[in-house]
Amino acid sequence: IQKIGVLTSGGDAPGMNAAIRAAVRACVFYEKECTGIYRGFQGLVEGDFIPLGARSVKNMINRGGTFLKSARSNDFRTAEGRKKAYDHLKENEIDALIVIGGDGTFKGASLFHEEFNFPVVGIPGTIDNDIRGTDFTIGYDTALNTVVEAIDKIRDTANSHNRLFLVEVMGRVAGDIALNAGIGAGAEEILIPEEDLGKDRLVESLAKSSKSGKTSSIVVVSEGDQIGKNIFELAEYIEEHLKQYEVRVTVLGHIQRGGAPSCYDRVLASRLGVGAVEALLENKNNVMVGVKHKKIVVTPFKEAIAGSNEIDWDLLKVADIISI
Ligand code: F6P
Repeated sequence: IQKIGVLTSGGDAPGMNAAIRAAVRACVFYEKECTGIYRGFQGLVEGDFIPLGARSVKNMINRGGTFLKSARSNDFRTAEGRKKAYDHLKENEIDALIVIGGDGTFKGASLFHEEFNFPVVGIPGTIDNDIRGTDFTIGYDTALNTVVEAIDKIRDTANSHNRLFLVEVMGRVAGDIALNAGIGAGAEEILIPEEDLGKDRLVESLAKSSKSGKTSSIVVVSEGDQIGKNIFELAEYIEEHLKQYEVRVTVLGHIQRGGAPSCYDRVLASRLGVGAVEALLENKNNVMVGVKHKKIVVTPFKEAIAGSNEIDWDLLKVADIISI
C-alpha cells in the first residue's frame, strides 16, 4: 500500500476532524501518501479529491464537524456509481481507503470491498454509539456533554415554573444518548427504544414522584422511542392525565452534532486514526477499528453493524433507583 484515501460519510460527529488528522499524520509517519475525499462516497463517485500532508491538518484537532464534508450518497447505492468510484481510485493510484462514519457508511464500504476486493478499514464516527465492536464511537461523548449542558439549563426554568419538560434527544434506534445523558442530567424518566415503558406506566411514575414532593420534572425521550415518537402528542397526553404540571417540549436536534470535541473524543479519534492506518498496513481489511476494554481491536464490518443495539440494562436499573 502506497497511497491511502480518507473520507467522512453519513451524519457528522465531533472528533471526525481529529480522526482525519491522525490518519493523515500516521500516513506521513509510515511514509505513505494520503488523499482526502470530499463529501464521503459522493466525492468518491465524482473524483473530488485533495492531497493531504501533515500541515494540511493543522488546527484541526479542536474543530467540530468535518473539513472534508459529509454526505449520504444516493449515487454510491448504485452499481454504476460504485464502478465510477473504483475507476477514480485507480486513476489516482489510491490503493486503500479509510472510511469514517456509522452503519450506513460501513454497509457501503463492505459492499464496495466485496465487489472490487478493494482494501477498506472503517473508523466508527457517529454520536449514536450504535456500532458493535467498540465501547464508544467518536462524537458520542461530546454529544452527551452537549445534552447534559442543555438539560441543566432547562432544569433551571422547569424549577422556576413547576413544569414538566420532555426533552427529545437523537440516537436513531439506539437509546445510549438518552440513557447516559438522562442519568448525567438527573432526569426523572428516560424513554428509550430498547424498553417499552408505555404511556400509562409513565404517567403513574410521574404522579408518584409528584406526590413524593417533586415540583418539576425532566423526562428525556430518545427520538426512536415508541411512545415518544410523537413527542407533542405525548406532552398532550401527560397534561390530560396528570393535572399537576404544565408540560413543555424541547427538541434538542442538531445542536447535538456540533461543537468542539471533548478531550475523550479527541483521544479516541487520534487512537483510531492511527489504528486504521496500521490495520491497513498489516493487510487487515473489510474491518472496523474500535476500542474495547482500552485496547484497539478490529471487527468485520458485517459484525459491527449486525443486529439491534445492546443497551446496558444495569445502567437502566441505576436510572430507576436514583430517580426515586
Ligand atoms: O446518526 C446520527 C444522527 O444524528 C441520528 O441521531 C439522527 O437520527 C440522524 O443522524 C439525523 O440525520 P439528518 O442529519 O440527516 O437529519
